[in-house]
Order: sequence, then C-alpha cells, then structure tokens
Amino acid sequence: MNVEDLKIPEHVAIIMDGNGRWAKKRHMPRTYGHAQGAKVLEQTLEDADSLGIKYLTVYAFSTENWARPLEEVQVIMNLFRDYLISAVEKCNRNNVRCRVIGERSKLDPDIIDAINNLEEKTKNNTGITFIVAINYGSRDEITRGVKKLAEKVKEGSLSPEEIDGELISGSLDTADFPDPDLLIRTSGEERLSNFLMWQLAYTEFYFTEVPWPDFNKNELLKAIEKYSGRDRRYGNVK
Ligand code: IPE
Ligand code: IPE
Ligand code: MG
Repeated sequence: MNVEDLKIPEHVAIIMDGNGRWAKKRHMPRTYGHAQGAKVLEQTLEDADSLGIKYLTVYAFSTENWARPLEEVQVIMNLFRDYLISAVEKCNRNNVRCRVIGERSKLDPDIIDAINNLEEKTKNNTGITFIVAINYGSRDEITRGVKKLAEKVKEGSLSPEEIDGELISGSLDTADFPDPDLLIRTSGEERLSNFLMWQLAYTEFYFTEVPWPDFNKNELLKAIEKYSGRDRRYGNVK
C-alpha cells in the first residue's frame, strides 16, 4: 500500500511494552531497554508528525509500575527528568505541544516542575500534540474525575441529572483531546493494563510481537495500514 492511500488516524495511542524482555534477550539489565525505548520514542514522535498524525499519546509509567524494584523505578524517573528538560527546546524547534497525563503529586518535585515548565513553554505550538502518561492509571483518572464532579454536586453548581458522557470525558486528564483512533501495543501482550479505558471505547486495536525498542516507522506504517482497512461502525449498520 502506498503511503498516499493510507487513512491517517488523527490520534494514535501506544502502550510501549517489552523494554525489559528486549534487554534480557541481549543479556543486558532491564534498564538498558528503557534507555533504548526512550530513544525510539523520540524517533516515533518525529515519524508520527511526518505522517500527519495530530495527537500521539504514549504510556510511559503506570500507577502499577511503582511495584517494580526501586532501582528500575529510579532509572525510569531519571529518563523522564532528562527528557522533560531537553524536550523544551526540541518541541519548540519542531512545533510540538507537549502535555502530561496522570497523577502528578506522587512524582519528585523537580519532575513536577519540569512537567509544568514543558507544558507552559510548548502550549502555543500548533503542530502535533504529544501526550505522555506518567503515573497514569485509567481507574485512578476516572476516580479523580468522579470526585471532581461529586464536589460540584456537593457545592450545588451541578445537578446529578446533568451528568452525561461528555461531562465525564471533560473531567478526565484527557479533557482537551479527542479519543484515540488507533491503539498500538508492542511486545505481544494483548491487554490494556489500565490504559485509557474510557477513551478507548471505539478505538481500533493493533497488537504486534515487536518489542518497543525495535519499533520503527515501518512498524508504525504497518499498524496504520491495518487501521486503514478497518470498518468503524460505532454500533451502526453499513
Ligand atoms: C515497558 O516495558 C516500559 C514500562 C512499563 C515502564 P517493560 O518494562 O514492561 O518491559 P517488559 O514487558 O518487562 O519486557
Ligand atoms: C503497561 O505495561 C505500562 C506501560 C507500558 C507504561 P506493563 O508491562 O506495566 O503491563 P503488564 O504488567 O504487562 O500488564
Ligand atoms: Mg511490560
């Protein structure tokens, strides 16, 4: 299929999985896989942008990933630190708007500062929106959203009858973005692992055996080619 014939999804979400297994296969520590995965992510953002994708959301660290050995968590947090700081200049050079979703208060204060700074300094960019999920869990996000709505009901600015799907979407971290059109999960696992459960209601899923550190533009094109052939019916008939 020619690139010109592809239907380019507006919003692609990726569960970047398989860093640890990729490294283990090379007799290297799992953390080597995370470092490689971070490089692949930078390239994927460029590739997504060049293909005309408008939103790229990536799952970088889940609310469950704190259960991993402390050393691994620290290496991942250091990768975020480095990325968040260097990204300001890179995103501005490439007109990328960067946003972070997930619960921030559990992160180190300097990481929170770096997130706020990156979001603020790139907020007027008009190219691709790059959304990174850090300490993100769909159940946590929905729980926080429900609490926000409940507070409004309690203070009298919202009545329970007014609560609808749109209002719930608007209470989530992803309030400013459209739902993903295509979800990619690498490395063979076929589950959501607590990622965007509300937002993926009508998203097309694509699973590949390729581990995240081996992902590249060709793999992205394969996923989009599959997506191009899907018939999205949204419960209707055609
Ligand atoms: C994904 O790779 C990165 C994070 C979850 C932070 P993994 O670290 O889960 O790699 P595998 O799945 O153990 O191979
Ligand atoms: C999901 O991958 C989280 C991220 C990619 C950040 P995991 O490797 O943590 O998921 P499980 O444990 O296989 O479900
Ligand atoms: Mg994994």
